[in-house]
Amino acid sequence: MVRLSNYFLPLFGTALFSQGTHAYDYLSHAKSGSDALMHWYNQDTGVFNGTGWWNSAECLTALAEMQAVDPKSDFLDTLHNTFEINKDVMTTKSDFYDDEGWWALLWIKAYDLTHNQLYLDAAEQLFDDMAKGWTTKCNGGIWWDKDKTYVNAIANELFLSVAAHLARRTWDIKYLNWAVKEWKWFEQSGMINENKTINDGLDGSCKNNGYTVWSYNQGVILGGLVELSKASFDDSYIHTAKDIAYAAIYQLTDSNGILHETCEKGCGGDVSQFKGIFMQQISQLYTATSDHGLKQFLEINAQSIWKNDRDSQNRLGLKWSGPFDKADASTHSSALMGLIAAASVQGV
Ligand SMILES: *[C@@H]1O[C@H](CO)[C@@H](O)[C@H](O)[C@H]1NC(C)=O
Ligand SMILES: *[C@@H]1O[C@H](CO)[C@@H](O)[C@H](O)[C@H]1NC(C)=O
Repeated sequence: MVRLSNYFLPLFGTALFSQGTHAYDYLSHAKSGSDALMHWYNQDTGVFNGTGWWNSAECLTALAEMQAVDPKSDFLDTLHNTFEINKDVMTTKSDFYDDEGWWALLWIKAYDLTHNQLYLDAAEQLFDDMAKGWTTKCNGGIWWDKDKTYVNAIANELFLSVAAHLARRTWDIKYLNWAVKEWKWFEQSGMINENKTINDGLDGSCKNNGYTVWSYNQGVILGGLVELSKASFDDSYIHTAKDIAYAAIYQLTDSNGILHETCEKGCGGDVSQFKGIFMQQISQLYTATSDHGLKQFLEINAQSIWKNDRDSQNRLGLKWSGPFDKADASTHSSALMGLIAAASVQGV
């Protein structure tokens, strides 16, 4: 990867060496950010004020990741509170299959932390509902929405990832079969373009619609392929994941290596969630590869978030290169996922 060294060389000289990695305590920053996220948590509804249903799954995923990085954290009760309040509406609360995927991945994470079978059962129920969205319209893949209007990347990446995660936890062969079937379809669906980035979805004639290359669509596929590689004992999926990861790192970052969405002057409340998901998934790919460039990418972004995009109450905004503008549970939890991702790869 010649371009990688060219790309990161200036960063070695400035951000990393002059400030020194030791100046940044990734873990304590992640802890402070996690505590600050609780500012928006509504104990009575089990979701986060001022943000959407799926965003709350991501807020809780951040807390679950924090719990995994630092087992002395205290977020298991919060996860369980949300589960108790919302467990019966998991498959009915939203009309979007991707929303089910976010929640399924959260409950799998909660299962990993606690081995509480109820969480895994919930994830399996969510997956079964997603599988009902499988369609022959574009020779495979699931719909984005239960109204069946759009076949897109995110719902299908999540479907792959949930299947592959369940394959490794239940060892029920149906999940591995689904994961392989989804990937075979996704790979040739046309959504991965000539630049190895992934567009938003397919048009009415099942061609790549050319819509925005959002960061999360470059992310969720990574964790899916890592899990699929482990479930199938096939490393080739990891190589594909690395290609996609680096294509995104080159194409979605600024000259300082900081990740951006194209809409940062005015992203909606969905997009404000995306970048943290990319960071989280890069950390999963790092864990599977020990690839140094991925770790550096995480560190550079976590440093910038903490230094440039934080207010006095440790709330984190949308634009990671700064300056801090405003924060809500979505911008905050997204940036927090970035901090946790960097903390999770320290000493690894
Ligand atoms: C969340 O919103 C509800 C309803 O507006 C309000 O009663 C509650 O105090 C808020 N909680 C937090 C943590 O902001
Ligand atoms: C690939 O990248 C080039 C250069 O940024 C851009 O002009 C082109 O539109 C991209 N192709 C696709 C399919 O997005």
